[in-house]
Amino acid sequence: MAELLTALALARRYPLVPWPRLLEPGAGAFTDRAAIARAVRGEPGPSISIGLQPDAPDGAEAYALTVTAQSIDLRAREAAGLRHGLTTLRQLAAAADGISAVRIEDAPRFSYRGLHLDVGRHFFPVAFIKKFIDAMAAFKLNTFHWHLTEDQGWRLEIKRYPELTTVGAWRGETIIGPARDRPERYDGMKHGGFYTQAEAREVVAYAAERGITVLPEIEMPGHALAMIASYPELGNVPGPFKVRTTWGTSDHVLSPREETFTFLEGVLAEVLDIFPSTFIHIGGDEAPKTQWKTSPEAQAVMQREGLKDEEELQSWFIRRIERFLNAHGRRLVGWDEILEGGLAPNATVMSWRGIAGGVAAAKQGHDVIMSPEEDLYFDHYQGPAESEPLAHGGLTTLEETYRYEPIPAELSADEAKHVLGPQGNVWTEYMPTTTQVEYMTYPRALALAEMGWSAKDARDWESFAARLPAALSVLDTLGIGYRRP
Ligand code: ACM
Repeated sequence: MAELLTALALARRYPLVPWPRLLEPGAGAFTDRAAIARAVRGEPGPSISIGLQPDAPDGAEAYALTVTAQSIDLRAREAAGLRHGLTTLRQLAAAADGISAVRIEDAPRFSYRGLHLDVGRHFFPVAFIKKFIDAMAAFKLNTFHWHLTEDQGWRLEIKRYPELTTVGAWRGETIIGPARDRPERYDGMKHGGFYTQAEAREVVAYAAERGITVLPEIEMPGHALAMIASYPELGNVPGPFKVRTTWGTSDHVLSPREETFTFLEGVLAEVLDIFPSTFIHIGGDEAPKTQWKTSPEAQAVMQREGLKDEEELQSWFIRRIERFLNAHGRRLVGWDEILEGGLAPNATVMSWRGIAGGVAAAKQGHDVIMSPEEDLYFDHYQGPAESEPLAHGGLTTLEETYRYEPIPAELSADEAKHVLGPQGNVWTEYMPTTTQVEYMTYPRALALAEMGWSAKDARDWESFAARLPAALSVLDTLGIGYRRP
């Protein structure tokens, strides 16, 4: 018989993150430790039923879990749901005195629950990428946005264009200290690295086994200086160029000449071969139009195509790339700057400069992913700057992230259907080590995970705070060095 429990008592008894769609407490607990150990590995037994069932809740990621004093029953229609159910079971099984009886029927609110990592500003080894993915899976995040190319480093082997990694993956040194510091200071140390295609495939397979899609990002036409340094003919002005050693936005963007598209399609052909993700991210943010304004070639393209300004030239650039991706059965995602000069017909927009880009795109009938910097940029400070390690700037507390609502109030119910879900972004200018990445990512990514999964009216900060210690102990188990709230 279901007991009446306050939300807080419920949170303590079932310390789940994210909170499930439906949870009915039962009486007693399942306490057979040997059976629990089998259950969390997904092995059925005399008192344990785990498997795919046609009568399980509808939806690829949905599952139903019933625990009584005598038995555990986990069912889902698809492998993704079963995996999530096992994740829930593991969180419940961490309690010392067995698993409290319960009936859970669960499914995510949003189909897209993303976490991004910038490996361009600082390179991190494959072992760390796998650990990052493990932590995502432990909280039911399902998309790893791998930001693979930047002004400061190109990180993916491309067999057609070897200099992208022999040249573009390395910078001579790196600026240190706060951005405002003068004179500028450099560490004098070469930095770089890249993933071989075999390693990237290994990451894709590792993620897939954990229910996570890897969304690769290849930046264009801006944030492309490492690409231009490798192949100077891709630029608008004569080289040579250096892989960038400072942060911020560079005026060096890709030339819109025909050869650039041949090059990019060659790169993307290899990217598509490695990454099965339907979505392919092409960047599109922070591409100054300075060089295009004075480049005779860029101006000639504008004239030839009847484009009225450089914004339209960028839009034309992105549309061309979209045609290539669509012809190969993929969908283009770009940062919200791709709205400027007109959105490519099928593009999905990742809204980062607040929510305005997401609102505008959804109103035009385009899908959107919400990643506003105020709430979901994990390179912001998490507390008072005086008592935190040097960060990019801003302040985004755990509670602010938790309280962010991914559906903007401006959208009608129909428009809101275009919001695929939220994403947290981890830009690594000020995160030279994996320790620092973990410190900045967690626990805020736990708040993101719940916001992306749980029903809007089930989200409750007090309840989340009561469940947080158990979630942090999951991170402890994974060896993640999070910031202690
Ligand atoms: C971005 O933060 N430039 C997408």
